[in-house]
Amino acid sequence: MFDALSGLPEQCIRAWELGMALTVSARAEIRQVMVTGLGGSAIGGDLLRIFAGKRLPVPVTVNRDYVLPKFVGPQTLLFATSYSGNTEETLSAYREAREKGAQIIALTTGGKLKAMAEKDGVPVITVPGGISPRAATGYLFLPTLAVLQKLGLLEPLDEQVAELSRHLQAMREQLKPETPLAENRAKQVAINFFQRIPVIWGASGTSEVVAQRWKGQVNENAKAPAYWNVFPELNHNELVGFQKPEELLRQLYIVILRDTQDHPRVQKRYAITREIMGGAVAGMDEIEATGNGDLARLYSLIYPGDYASVYLALLYGIDPGPVKVIDQLKARLAEQ
Ligand code: PA5
Repeated sequence: MFDALSGLPEQCIRAWELGMALTVSARAEIRQVMVTGLGGSAIGGDLLRIFAGKRLPVPVTVNRDYVLPKFVGPQTLLFATSYSGNTEETLSAYREAREKGAQIIALTTGGKLKAMAEKDGVPVITVPGGISPRAATGYLFLPTLAVLQKLGLLEPLDEQVAELSRHLQAMREQLKPETPLAENRAKQVAINFFQRIPVIWGASGTSEVVAQRWKGQVNENAKAPAYWNVFPELNHNELVGFQKPEELLRQLYIVILRDTQDHPRVQKRYAITREIMGGAVAGMDEIEATGNGDLARLYSLIYPGDYASVYLALLYGIDPGPVKVIDQLKARLAEQ
């Protein structure tokens, strides 16, 4: 997992190249963009929803189900994304998208998805295998941006991708295992999460998907629970719920993911929320986005969480790599 994490800056460049290498053209005007996938493969869709949502004149949605919404049709550009290519929900959604005449692009390492797409004459972006889907966010996200750029739906992003890779290279030095605790934000976060329940708060439209990503990374890498929510919504419900039961609340540790691009009124909410929370939880910390472009800023919040979840696994004496529970569940479903 450490190797996969440290390879992310280079993965992003390779992923971009793979997307740009695809020959694409739209069969009909594109009225919606959808990513269908699950788990580590769906998070790339969420990144697309946040990043492209601000830039595209059409909606971007993520489908995490066997079935597709009714609006999907010939004017839907649909990325069927599955790292393994064998996730049954994604295969089912792919089949339905074919029946509905959607403009499909498969994004996978292989498996049944690649076989079906090739047989159907559907374009496939084949990304390298051998790492966990959750360590492949570059492969599962950047090719979708490249396709949208090639279709003329997004402005050229080559510079942003180059900045992303450079920024991650610099961050890798700060987050890697050799960097001592005093200078390593990811190790500091892991120590604060250890033997506690992590709660991660992001902001709508910027870091919301990153908060969800941190939660998933703690679950899958550290094999521990974690919860997430977003500003401003959490100010309208979750914030009220930090009064009882006091002892259990003191087992929570909250990290707020911040970006100067967050809505100015949301930025005012952070300090007020912390003040209202008082000493209800074990502690609170903040991670601030860095970098210039939106891509670098998004990943500048993702990367510390990725490393922190792996350090947390090590504190628990757990191998972050295998997710036997998911494998078992898929195997048992496959028997039926
Ligand atoms: O991280 C994981 O291993 C899971 O969340 C998988 O991504 C999820 O089960 C879907 O599998 P795939 O990404 O191969 O479609």
